[in-house]
Amino acid sequence: MSRFYFSCIGCGATFPLTENIYSCSRCGDLIQAEVLIDEVREEVDFRALKKQPISVWRYAPLLPILNTSKLITLHEGGTGLHHCRRLGSLIGLEHLYVKNEGENPTGSFKDRGMTVGISRALEVGARSVICASTGNTAASLAAYGAKAGLKRIVLIPSGKIAYGKLAQAIVYGAQIVQIKGNFDEALNIVFKICSRNKEVYLLNSVNPFRIEGQKTLAYEVCDQLNRHPDYFIIPVGNAGNISAAWKGFKEYYNFDQIKAKPKMVGVQAEGAAPIAEAVAKKSLSITPVNKPETVATAIRIGAPVSWKKALRAVYESHGTALTVSDDEILEAQSLLARLEGLFVEPASAAPIAALKKLKEEDYLSSGDFVVCVATGHGLKDPDVISRLYEKPVEVDAEVSSIERLLGFAEEARVHSI
Ligand code: F0G
Repeated sequence: MSRFYFSCIGCGATFPLTENIYSCSRCGDLIQAEVLIDEVREEVDFRALKKQPISVWRYAPLLPILNTSKLITLHEGGTGLHHCRRLGSLIGLEHLYVKNEGENPTGSFKDRGMTVGISRALEVGARSVICASTGNTAASLAAYGAKAGLKRIVLIPSGKIAYGKLAQAIVYGAQIVQIKGNFDEALNIVFKICSRNKEVYLLNSVNPFRIEGQKTLAYEVCDQLNRHPDYFIIPVGNAGNISAAWKGFKEYYNFDQIKAKPKMVGVQAEGAAPIAEAVAKKSLSITPVNKPETVATAIRIGAPVSWKKALRAVYESHGTALTVSDDEILEAQSLLARLEGLFVEPASAAPIAALKKLKEEDYLSSGDFVVCVATGHGLKDPDVISRLYEKPVEVDAEVSSIERLLGFAEEARVHSI
């Protein structure tokens, strides 16, 4: 007997895990995997589990995969939780941590969900997998689909995905379709393709198995910190990841692995902020943004499909959501790189940009344990760097002129000999 089942986030209808569904057959809302908490508490030996190397599959007993002998893994998870002392002292936070999801195999958090999602695709006998993407899901699906030997199709918004991500999807051999539209339109097309062609397996974050993999982000942070964070600050696009992390924290709390849950703080770019706008109005629904725009192309999303779960994460945890401008995002990207040696893509710098505002408003106190999620690696979006930073100067290959350029005074050099 599986200790998992599906439940609808809208009407609460339940379905067995053996059904191959992504939405509720009664009301059409999203479904999620649920775990039987009491059975986990009785059956799972958490002490033994925590002796395993840290990774997504360390948490296998908490993941709804029926046959773990056929996993498709590239060794995802186990990313660094970096104590950022220099950045923390600048902002006034003693316990500031960055969970660097760029350390995953394809350079983003998407790999956590994709290892579970692709393993499930094989379980249900899929031959091809598909997603709409602002870039990272495409790269991840392309890699894991390749390892599984599946045909892989990605729909991307034309001209609006970072070149590093496109390069990944190309080299991993995905069939790439650029559409003359944005991410929200691409996702709608993918939904229609999947409802008309049952053999194609959908791997956007409406897929509950993606969310299950991504919830391990929360488990890992608690295990690495040896406690719960007070605040968990995370960029929000289609809103799958904030929902997944909140699910993970709630479960870990219910399994008695942490004493309290963090406040969830969602961060969006000013030009693509339906969730932050709803939270500012204390609203229970969102107004989609028709033409989302931001330098953080990963989160250039106006109609997040998991909006309901994201709002629940914020309200249930007594957290908040806020916006940051493109300039603030780029400044934060540079600060994190120069103070902490962490190079993250613009979307991933959004939580760092939010820190300053939250501290100035006294929302955060200096002793709080604050974890920011850096969702993707900076090398994915090299264009933004070449546009913004000066190119290196070129000089003759000659020692003394280079020393002059570097400001090493002739006199000081002679004295030191
Ligand atoms: N950060 C990065 C680097 C992302 O790629 C994404 C989403 C997010 C944050 C937001 O996560 O959608 O779960 O709220 N990227 C998706 C993609 C949409 O297609 O790669 P979310």
